[in-house]
Amino acid sequence: MISPDLDAPAPGRGTAPHGPAAGPATLGNREPLGLPDLFDDGFIGNPYPWLDALRVQAPVHHDPGTGLWLVSRHRDIRRVLLDPDRFLPDNAQHAVTPLPVAVLRILARAGFTLPPALANNGTASHPGLRRVVTRFFNAHRVASAVPVIERIADELLSVARARIDTTGGCDLFTSFAQALPCRVLMELLGIRHVDAATLMRWSDASLELFWGRPTPQRQLELAERVGEFHQWLTQAVRGGTAAPGSFIAALTRHRLPDGKPLDVETAVGACFFVFIAGQSTTGQLISTVLHRALTEPGLWPRVAREAGVAEAWVEEVLRREPPVTTWRRVTACTTELGGVQLPAGAQLLLMLMGSGSDPEVFAHPERMCPHRPNIRHHLAFGTGRHRCPGASLARTEAAVALRAAARRLPGVRLTAGAEEPPMLGLLSFRAPLQVAVESPGDAPVPTAAVGPRST
Ligand code: HEM
Repeated sequence: MISPDLDAPAPGRGTAPHGPAAGPATLGNREPLGLPDLFDDGFIGNPYPWLDALRVQAPVHHDPGTGLWLVSRHRDIRRVLLDPDRFLPDNAQHAVTPLPVAVLRILARAGFTLPPALANNGTASHPGLRRVVTRFFNAHRVASAVPVIERIADELLSVARARIDTTGGCDLFTSFAQALPCRVLMELLGIRHVDAATLMRWSDASLELFWGRPTPQRQLELAERVGEFHQWLTQAVRGGTAAPGSFIAALTRHRLPDGKPLDVETAVGACFFVFIAGQSTTGQLISTVLHRALTEPGLWPRVAREAGVAEAWVEEVLRREPPVTTWRRVTACTTELGGVQLPAGAQLLLMLMGSGSDPEVFAHPERMCPHRPNIRHHLAFGTGRHRCPGASLARTEAAVALRAAARRLPGVRLTAGAEEPPMLGLLSFRAPLQVAVESPGDAPVPTAAVGPRST
């Protein structure tokens, strides 16, 4: 039986540290274990005790609920990500809840396909397509995007400020965290002829359809939205009206390794992934970053005033509580991992979130220590050939967002009862769906130093 440390405190307040991870698991990996359903509210609310227990007791564990092999240790996950020939990315975007025929029909009517493009592409076309993406998000582009991020953050926070002043409170998830990355992405990629609210709705529907556990009725609704999104992308790619310098224009100019132009389906598949990955995940990160910062005594005023505090806090949140909690791979052949013999075609679920709390890599993983020496050794953005090309943008946006919020809303605090907000709980995505704040009065930005550096 896998058993969690039930005395472990809630996330952010720390779980009981374990010693070094146990040796390779040789048994128990297929038996019906005590691990709850991965979509269970209890697991989503506080997965830490379970992630710790898995890592120690069954680091490569077959989950009967999803049919996936859960891989929990930092070193095993790294090994998988750095060996793309043995561990293929082909299943990265498969629907975790099977799609019934009626849903497949809706998608087929919209011409929906997801050929290998980026995250799900282990073929020779991947490096070239990836280069198209990285050109839009390299260090230079991200640095020059800072004023854009600051401007949009300021605009959104002015509205939030006004709402707090008139009604006494507001939700920083919907008004700020979720909206900011979408607006930024639209500017950086030259996305036109669609409004941000629609793009966010399409993106959220896609995440829920492919990574969620929706009911059959809900699947039908989601498929309609995803189909709409796909049709809009297809038109944008086919129409030849993409703005010069836009991401779509760059894809239409792209040539495959054999010199042929990129087909429409693959260009649409690349856009589908980037338009979702580029906004939803960052919105989720900002939500967690804000929520955790507001529950950490003394942090909010320090973020507003001290250089580097926002960046370090974002990094610790990425380690301890990343928005992309898991990622998938599939074995190309029979292979051994963590002492377990896996057949060819085994579907792996890499527990990225738990790996950030692996005591083999991070001392006192339960503590938020924004100045730990190996702060960037987490796997929140993956590693190797498919490592997230948006990492620099996501980090920058989250730090700018946190600092801007702490400066524009100096006196806010979480509304009573908002410490445990409703959570987004998909197979691979987790974040607070609400950051409800109130202002007890106009508090000036303090000037005296507060709080310890390491929290
Ligand atoms: C906090 C925000 C984000 C997190 C936690 C995150 C995480 C990840 C992870 C775990 C992967 C898979 C890595 C692997 O397979 O090794 C990935 C891939 C990817 N991400 Fe992100 N991501 C974030 C933001 C972004 C942004 C802002 C963009 C684009 C602007 C983006 C674009 C991509 C793309 C295109 C891939 C596929 C890369 C490839 O296959 O070569 N992501 N991301």
